[in-house]
Amino acid sequence: PRSTRPRPMHVVLAAPRGFCAGVTRAIDAVERALSQFGPPVYVRRPIVHNRSVMQHLEAHGAVFVREVEDVPEGAVLILSAHGVAPDIIAAAEARNLRVFDAVCPLVDKVHREVRRHHRDGRHVILIGHRGHPEIDGTLGQLPAGAADVVATADEVEHLPETARGPVAYAIQTTFAVEEARRIVESLEARFPGIAGPQGSDICYATTNRQSAVRTIARRVDAFIIVGESFSSNACRLVEVARAAGCENVQLVADLSELDFAKLEESGSIGITAAASTPAQSVSAVLEGLGRSFDLSTEQVGNQEEGVTFRQVALC
Ligand code: F3S
Repeated sequence: PRSTRPRPMHVVLAAPRGFCAGVTRAIDAVERALSQFGPPVYVRRPIVHNRSVMQHLEAHGAVFVREVEDVPEGAVLILSAHGVAPDIIAAAEARNLRVFDAVCPLVDKVHREVRRHHRDGRHVILIGHRGHPEIDGTLGQLPAGAADVVATADEVEHLPETARGPVAYAIQTTFAVEEARRIVESLEARFPGIAGPQGSDICYATTNRQSAVRTIARRVDAFIIVGESFSSNACRLVEVARAAGCENVQLVADLSELDFAKLEESGSIGITAAASTPAQSVSAVLEGLGRSFDLSTEQVGNQEEGVTFRQVALC
């Protein structure tokens, strides 16, 4: 008789995974604003790139809008963790809104860096993904034409002549660590003496999550990244897993998106979560796997990050 026992599956959980300190702080700002001022509390753009987080906040009275003009005069407005250009804050104040900026302090640090480079007469080259809200916000710190954006080492060759003369670079906080290293090498070759950040602008959370994935991807048959396809740091985790040699990688926002057929040949799975993914989404994926397989689990990586930021002041 055929055994009905589920097939064994070894799960390697990446540590750290999930919420970073900037995401926790931004969500906390909306929750406290809701209890302090009462609903509705308006939020410009996704506070963090995760639909279940947004649905949870909406259920408690948050209203997500695209632009400042969509917010009624005098209302409370929270700006997202990705950061905005100063003219957005000015437009919100001109509408008489009570504005609270939940920009991550590590994004704000990059804003200050690029403004300093501009003041010192340097053209800024921003390593990042065009169209991402963080890049829009960082570009918005500078006058038009004062910066260029590159996303690959090849693009460095095609930078316009205006980028000659004193130049500096800065990096999107959620960029891929290895790709950034290659781009910085190309920039240093093309612009000897180019100024840059001390260390890297890529934040601790991005670095740690990518590093854990790189370690685990070498020893598992498949990888599940729990996160949204519109989350930059989630997409980078997919690339890192593939680059480290794991070809069977799935990016799923929640259990419903998981394709079990793709796990048929696998005996081990790595699991991580983007910096904007709540822990419950990972638990739900694990429970779903547990209904189909006989799971054994282990955790790999440096578990404690110990980073917290001061709350967004709501006064
Ligand atoms: Fe900040 Fe890094 Fe998170 S920049 S919002 S700590 S992913």
